[in-house]
Formats: sequence, C-alpha cells, structure tokens
Amino acid sequence: MYQYNEFDHAFLKDRTAEFRDQVARRLAGELTEDEFKPLRLMNGLYLQLHAYMLRVAIPYGTLSAKQMRQLGMIAKRWDRDWGHFTTRQNIQYNWIKLDDVPDILDALAEVEMHAIQTSGNCIRNVTADQFAGVAADEIEDSRVWAEIIRQWSTLHPEFTFLPRKFKIAITGSEHDRAAVKLHDIGLRMRRNEAGETGFEVIVGGGQGRTPIVGETIRDFLPKQHLLSYLEAILRTYNLLGRRDNLYKARIKILVAAVGIEKFAEMVEEEWLEIKDSALALEPEQIRAIEEHFAPPQYETIAEPVAGFDAARFTDPAFAAWTRTNLFPHKQPGYAVVTVSLKPAGGVPGDATSAQMEALADLAEKYSLGELRIAHEQNVVLPDVRKQDLHRLWQELGEQGLADANIGLITDIISCPGLDYCNLANARAIPIAQRISRHFADPALQSEIGPITLNISGCINACGHHHVGNIGILGVDKKGVEHYQITIGGIADENAAVGRILGPSFPAEEVVDAIDTLIATFRKIREEGETFIDTVQRVGIQPFKETLYANH
Ligand code: HEM
Ligand code: SF4
Repeated sequence: MYQYNEFDHAFLKDRTAEFRDQVARRLAGELTEDEFKPLRLMNGLYLQLHAYMLRVAIPYGTLSAKQMRQLGMIAKRWDRDWGHFTTRQNIQYNWIKLDDVPDILDALAEVEMHAIQTSGNCIRNVTADQFAGVAADEIEDSRVWAEIIRQWSTLHPEFTFLPRKFKIAITGSEHDRAAVKLHDIGLRMRRNEAGETGFEVIVGGGQGRTPIVGETIRDFLPKQHLLSYLEAILRTYNLLGRRDNLYKARIKILVAAVGIEKFAEMVEEEWLEIKDSALALEPEQIRAIEEHFAPPQYETIAEPVAGFDAARFTDPAFAAWTRTNLFPHKQPGYAVVTVSLKPAGGVPGDATSAQMEALADLAEKYSLGELRIAHEQNVVLPDVRKQDLHRLWQELGEQGLADANIGLITDIISCPGLDYCNLANARAIPIAQRISRHFADPALQSEIGPITLNISGCINACGHHHVGNIGILGVDKKGVEHYQITIGGIADENAAVGRILGPSFPAEEVVDAIDTLIATFRKIREEGETFIDTVQRVGIQPFKETLYANH
C-alpha cells in the first residue's frame, strides 16, 4: 500500500490545525454559515437534512486493517456507531457534530487518511477496480496509476475551481469493474499490438440529470504520457466548460456540444504543447510508486486445495457463498472474497463500528492485512488462502456478514435518499430494504441469477439508477414520494443507460412492480439468459405491458 512520506504527514497536520481554527471561529460566531461553507466543503463537511455529514476519501478503495479499525473507532466515538460506504469508494458519516470534526480529522491523519477534495469543483477521489492487483483477469494493477493521478490531482493549483466536480475512474482489466464509462474521465488498461500496456481514454461520461456514456478519445495512450494527457483534457474543460449554468457545467455537456472529434482535436493541440514537459513520467518515478504496490509474499499453494473442496461438499450454505462471493485470484491457492454489506432488510453499504472492527481483524487474520471497498458498496478481502475460506465464512457469519448475494437481486446499490440528503425527492433506503426482504430467499435469488438493481433518491443519480439493469429513481409527484422504474442499464464496458418504463409508482407499490418485472423475465427468459440478456433480446415492451396491465 502507499505509505505517506514526511511531507504528506506534515501537510495533513497543518491542514487540520487550520480547519480547527476555522471551526472555532464558526462556533464563536465570527464566521457566518455563508463564510464557513466553502471552508468546510474543502474538508468534505456537508450540512445535510439533520446534521453535518463528513465524507472521507478511500483512495482507489484500498484500506489497511489499521485504517478500517480507525474508521470503526470514528463511527463509535463521534457518530451513531455506523458509517456508509458509497459508490465512489468513500465513507460517509451522517451524524457528525461540528466541534468534533477537527478531532476526527486528526484521527484520520493518524492513519494517513483525510477528507480533502471529497467535495467541491475539483478532482475528486480517484476510484479503481476493487480487485486491482489481485484479479486473475487483470492486465496491470490500476492502483499504481490511481496513486500517480491522486498525487498529481491533489491540490493541483490550476484545477481547484473547475466549472464543476470532476471524477476519474480506472480499471486494470478488459472487464470494467469501475464504471469507467460513467465518469468524467475513464481509463481502461490496454495492451497494444507490440505487447506494451497503456490506456484507453474515455471522456464525457456521467450520470446525474443528463446520463451519458463516455466516448473514447484515445484508443491507446502510452503510460508515460498519462499525466500530460489528463492535464490537456482538464485544461480544455477548464477553459471551455460552462460556468453560467450548474446543470450544464460537467465535461459531458461540453463534449456533447462540440462533438468528440472536435474535443479530441482541442485536447491533442494542448497536449502537444505539454507532452514532453515535466509531466512526462520517467521510468523511475513509475517504479517508485510501483514499489508501494509490490505483491505481498504469497505462499506456494498447490491447487486443488483439498480442505476447501471438502468443506464445499459437506456444507451447502458455504458452497452457495463460494459461488457468489468469490473471484479468481492471480495467485494459485488464493481467492478474492467480497463481503456483502447487503443483508436482507439492511441498509446497503452501511457497516457498524463492530463490523468494521471485525473486518479489520479478519483482514489481519486471513487477508494479509488489506481490504477494499467496491463501488457496489461492499467490502473486499483480497488475499485469502482457500484453506481459510470456510473458517472466514463462519467468522463473517458471527458478524452478520456472510450473505451469499454478490451480483444478485438483493445486492442493491442505494444512495442515502430522503433519510439524510437535503437534495432528495424520496427515500431510497426503505425501498432497498423492502426489496431485499421480498427477494431474500436464496433459492429464488439464485434462480433469478445475475442482475443489478440500483436506487437513487433524486435525479443526481448517486445510487447509479441509470445504469442498473433495474433502476429506481425517487421523484416528487405533487408532494408525494414516487418511484420511476427503468430497465436495461449497464455499468461495465458495455455501458448503457436504462429506459423508463412509464409512469411512476407510489412507495407501497414498488415491490410489487419489481416483482412483476422479475416474474415477466422468468416467464420469457430463454435457457441460460440473465435479466439483461432478456431485456436486450426482447426490448422493454413486454415488461412495460405486464407492469402497466392493471393500471
Ligand atoms: C448525501 C449527500 C450527497 C449530496 C449532497 C450529493 C450530491 C450530488 C450531486 C448534486 C450530484 C450530481 C452532480 C452533477 O451531475 O453535476 C451527485 C452525483 C453523484 N454522487 Fe452524490 N451526493 C451525496 C451523496 C452521495 C453518496 C452517498 C454517493 C454514493 C452512494 C454519491 C455518489 C455520487 C455519484 C456516483 C454521482 C453520479 C456520478 C456523476 O457525478 O455523474 N453521492 N451527487
Ligand atoms: S441521488 Fe439525490 S437523494 Fe441520493 S444522495 Fe444523491 S443527491 Fe441525495
């Protein structure tokens, strides 16, 4: 993992001291809320419906056990004993008291974490594939590049006041697990014909009120040019992006307005000027960062691992969990484990302090001390020996963390919605809870098969509803919470925006509506088809007809 140097430590210390002073002045009435707002937002502190909310960055979703334990400690000591992991690999604390924030920032700094650039019109936390560095299907560890981008983008003087927030995601495999086509810039590692690795650069994707799938601006960018090319994109956007209208300020609107070819030309022109500047990455610079992500000392373990296979044979519940929650590891004898934060009736992405502490302990015991946060709001233990999986699963069960539902209908992504968020039209969490209770039966989930169901409490789309195979969007219909349903959304390399099925439903009808869609799918699916396969084959019409048959 990346380790802070002395400069990093000193910088965070100074920054917290500065904010401590600003908070003291606010509490003493020397600063008005209007004066204080930009200062708190620079430190990830929002004012929500009921309380302050602190958003803490988890760079590229990687955490050490020590950091996870500290996040749990913060939840216990200064919040209501839980935290919410988000679709951008951050954690949010929803019940923060203003006068505690400087102490919280100090506690974060102790473990090399902070809340800087988790808000505002700057480059936000760079997100990455949660299986980076361990996935069997990976071309290269994307965290090295995410870290290089993080260092370049943190406090970048030119990009602190962009027209709007800016989000970059990166994936190291052909299969995109980081939703890169739905980011302002998406990077996908590629190998060219000569066998060299580089990036496909995608630009202008985004969700919110204008969902757009990003377009490729460059098929192959050699690695040494990564920063100069990103700089050229950001400069072009910073100059030409709209500042007159909040809703038209994202880069996706600029790219759509000028067209990808013209935009690419402008970027290329800028890039030629700076390509060979100090931004060009020297091999030793890259190597220095790579060293932080050197693979751990794995044991040599022969496959198949007898104990693992035997446990699967004798324990069907464990076997079911291994079918959904494991991912192939690069190293023989190891597995990547996704721990579900989606128990039936639970709040997607929430973890209690006890769970965070237990996850930290389990990471130390079974996963070489490391954890990841997935954008689907789950936790990953990346390095588990197969012979330890059964024991790990049992211990996860003791913490209510052994749900076998990754990639299934109850693995719901949801934003906080009207329970917390002051932009919300409708609640999202209770809808997620009802749906996950309704479909809790493991046999039913397995029969339905792989599917994504995403919920947002308003059109800002923090819950990725546009790109869920089923998307649910909270809308306000004459003061009453309603929900609009889309189908056909996809978040990976085949990214697509879902299509609206028709008029929205009141909260009490949403579960029935989803049930109707699933029943329709089960009736018309062909052998081996997933939900999205069927939607792509038949279109939305059959679903629309059954959904509105009785309306
Ligand atoms: C509760 C406080 C939050 C506020 C005030 C907030 C605000 C917003 C706004 C205004 C947008 C639309 C930006 C635009 O299109 O220009 C947005 C987008 C987004 N937010 Fe949030 N958000 C909050 C929490 C969250 C949470 C909890 C998550 C993750 C679960 C999240 C993840 C995202 C994502 C993924 C997008 C869409 C991607 C994009 O930027 O195009 N946000 N948020
Ligand atoms: S989608 Fe809307 S309701 Fe949900 S967190 Fe984002 S801004 Fe709030």
